[in-house]
Amino acid sequence: MQTYTAIAHTNIALIKYWGKKDDKFIIPFNNSLSLTLDRFYTKTSAQPITAATDSFVLDGQAQSGAALSKVTSFLDILRAETGSTQRLAINSTNHVPTAAGLASSASGFAALTLASCAAFGLQLPRRTLSRLARRGSGSACRSIYGGFVEWKKGQDDLTSFATPLAANEQVDLDIAMIALVVSAQAKKVTSRQGMATTVATSPFYPAFVKSCETDLLAIKQAIDAQDLEKVGQIAESNALKMHATNLGATPPFSYFLPETLVAIAAIQQLRAKGFLCYFTMDAGPNVKVICRGQEALKIQAELQALLPNTEMLLAYPGPGAKIVNSESLKE
Ligand code: DP6
Repeated sequence: MQTYTAIAHTNIALIKYWGKKDDKFIIPFNNSLSLTLDRFYTKTSAQPITAATDSFVLDGQAQSGAALSKVTSFLDILRAETGSTQRLAINSTNHVPTAAGLASSASGFAALTLASCAAFGLQLPRRTLSRLARRGSGSACRSIYGGFVEWKKGQDDLTSFATPLAANEQVDLDIAMIALVVSAQAKKVTSRQGMATTVATSPFYPAFVKSCETDLLAIKQAIDAQDLEKVGQIAESNALKMHATNLGATPPFSYFLPETLVAIAAIQQLRAKGFLCYFTMDAGPNVKVICRGQEALKIQAELQALLPNTEMLLAYPGPGAKIVNSESLKE
């Protein structure tokens, strides 16, 4: 039977999603805004099979237990939503360094949604694909599109989806991101657990949600004005406010490691020297530098001199998720 293959790229949020109003449907408390990256992606193929259950191969390894049930439960959601009864053999490869904190769940669920819906014989509008990908992992709804992408929180399953800032999904701003892999240590608190604890217990959480509204408006204006300095300032401040909510949670937790602070100090040092560079951080200790595309190699070299043992991965704006043509299936 025919195999359907999709590619989806990772995205990094500049205005963070950190908390669910509805856990089942993954409806967030605030709108978020991300940049899809060119360098990191997941490639997933889905093949209709006659077996009684789905199967899942990840990076060449057949999966069982929790890893398999995460995929089959998501496929059950897709089948329930689309009316399909088709079982699938899923084969997925992550071109995302797993240790880099680059959210392979976003590219993973976006690619899985596209490949599976194609294997069910469905051609769905991208808004529907974004809503479906959201059910796997919230941030995955943004990886359906390229460039700058806003996830409109909505109020229910039908109204919560991502949409690109520019209709052509191109980025006019000269922007790059450098992922600083400060630690390959696995995170102790997953984003799912972390945000749930914070929503339930942190007195800082409502203030974060409120400030996301102002930050989102301001960053959209800065993107329009091609003001990267402003974009960096707002993104850095928004990420730090998200991380501050975790310190207010019960029990308190933090994704910062000593190496994180060393990396942040290096970025601040470059900034003091006149370089335009800011950072953002997600549910892990690694730091992502926001800088001009034209200056990225120079900034990477300066940072590498200050942080000689830190792996650095440079990425630029990337495209939306797509089904790849049958030629590339033969590779
Ligand atoms: C810090 O999308 O991984 O990266 O919806 O529970 O699967 P679930 O969470 P996930 O959380 C991402 C959180 C973040 C911020 C962001 O990407 O907006």
